[in-house]
Amino acid sequence: MKANRFAIAIMAAGRGTRLKSKRAKVLHSIGGKPLLQHVIDAALQSTPPERIFVVVGHQAEEVERAVGHAGVQFVHQTEQLGTGHAVQCLRQAVRQSSDLIVLSGDAPLIRPATIERLRDFHLAQHAAMTILTARPANPFGYGRVLRKDPTSPEVAAIVEQKSLTPEQQQVGEINSGMYAFRTETLYRHIDSLQANNAHGEYYLTDMAAILRAADERVVALETDDATEVLGANTIAEMMQLDAAMRLATARRLMAEGVTIFRPETCVIDGDVTVGPDTILEPFVQLLGSTRIGEDCRIRSYSVIQNSTLADRVLVRNSCVLDEATVEEGAQIGPFAHLRPESHIGRGAHVGNFVETKKTRLGDGSKANHLAYLGDTEIGSGCNIGAGVITCNYDGTHKHPTKIGDSVFVGSNSTLVAPVALEGNSYVAAASCITENVPSGALALGRARQAIKPGWVEKRKATMQKKKKD
Ligand code: UD1
Ligand code: CA
Repeated sequence: MKANRFAIAIMAAGRGTRLKSKRAKVLHSIGGKPLLQHVIDAALQSTPPERIFVVVGHQAEEVERAVGHAGVQFVHQTEQLGTGHAVQCLRQAVRQSSDLIVLSGDAPLIRPATIERLRDFHLAQHAAMTILTARPANPFGYGRVLRKDPTSPEVAAIVEQKSLTPEQQQVGEINSGMYAFRTETLYRHIDSLQANNAHGEYYLTDMAAILRAADERVVALETDDATEVLGANTIAEMMQLDAAMRLATARRLMAEGVTIFRPETCVIDGDVTVGPDTILEPFVQLLGSTRIGEDCRIRSYSVIQNSTLADRVLVRNSCVLDEATVEEGAQIGPFAHLRPESHIGRGAHVGNFVETKKTRLGDGSKANHLAYLGDTEIGSGCNIGAGVITCNYDGTHKHPTKIGDSVFVGSNSTLVAPVALEGNSYVAAASCITENVPSGALALGRARQAIKPGWVEKRKATMQKKKKD
């Protein structure tokens, strides 16, 4: 066994009753990522890499699916009998690690550097248990850490909110719910935990007093930044964390040269990247793995998810982009909908009320008004008229439409797939195209117009005669 090999365990089996939600608490998202994923990412980023265990129980399957990650092993706590019991369930999994760091799946702001500091302090103190603590503005609801004396790192006990005496309620130092333990000592004493408290649970916090009574060293390490250990027990608290996290993301982008008007109105996920000199107007949402280049402008009310935009792209108001790719200098919207696998070429235009799905629009091509383009490949320099529809679905299967370079499709044409319009061809307005159009040809697929001279006058005369009769 390697000396001082740590394991990191993240407790995530609880239900989160206080949220009043059907979904497990650790699966609720802030900053675009589940609470638990934030903690896992912090653990994965701390160095050196340690083995990471996640204790799952309530909705275990959903939790494992949502955060499934190569670097993580799951341990099951089938009955949730408290945080102490969660750590009891880890006994086998962590037996080869000399020390164990315990984190909470519902405290998502923890930083890798703080995990490393906790580990180093724990080792330097030769402690059996090290408690990460903080002094937030409002300590209500948290367990309080009672030091042996205020200047000593040594701790006498942790007391949960419900068990605090009036005097103990004055203590401002809270338990973050994150700890380091010497594994062997922890498991030698963990079975002394009792569930004789307000919740009838095995509290991990009681290990402080138990280890003290056994003459083991229990110490506290206070964080520099109290917000880092904040937990979320209600939706309101979670939304506070969400706002704080998104504001931090907006600040980071602004520091990198992005202009964000009214950043408090924008919803930007943590993994989004935006190039300098790009402008985001109020009420823009940039979600998931979205990447935006330089000198772009994203106008208000557009929602862009898992999409890639090159430089100098203009997205006008109220567009929805989902898994789309937009090349340099293209213009989108207003009110355009780019659905998955839409690929918009350099300098191309997609105008108002145009929907694309699994469609490539070539360089410089334009679909400016009211079109549906699905399962379609369009070359460069094409003009897709107003109201053009690709009929890609026959009720059972999807079929492709192929359009070459420099094709003109007249307004209100219906292209019944599978069909191909070869390069340099024309489709007359209002055509219903069911057969391939060769290069250089004009396709007319509509009824010939009939003219009936004097028809209006004749009709009038007939009507008047009818009235008299
Ligand atoms: C816990 C601490 C409290 C501390 C606070 C910090 C205890 C008894 N109290 O209280 O001192 O101030 O965290 O946020 O530990 N969990 C399990 N299995 C269980 C129960 C809980 O895995 O049987 C998980 C939860 O999913 C959660 C974490 O452990 O991620 C903490 O549990 P929670 O019930 O939220 O503890 P708190 O009441 O917040
Ligand atoms: Ca909690």
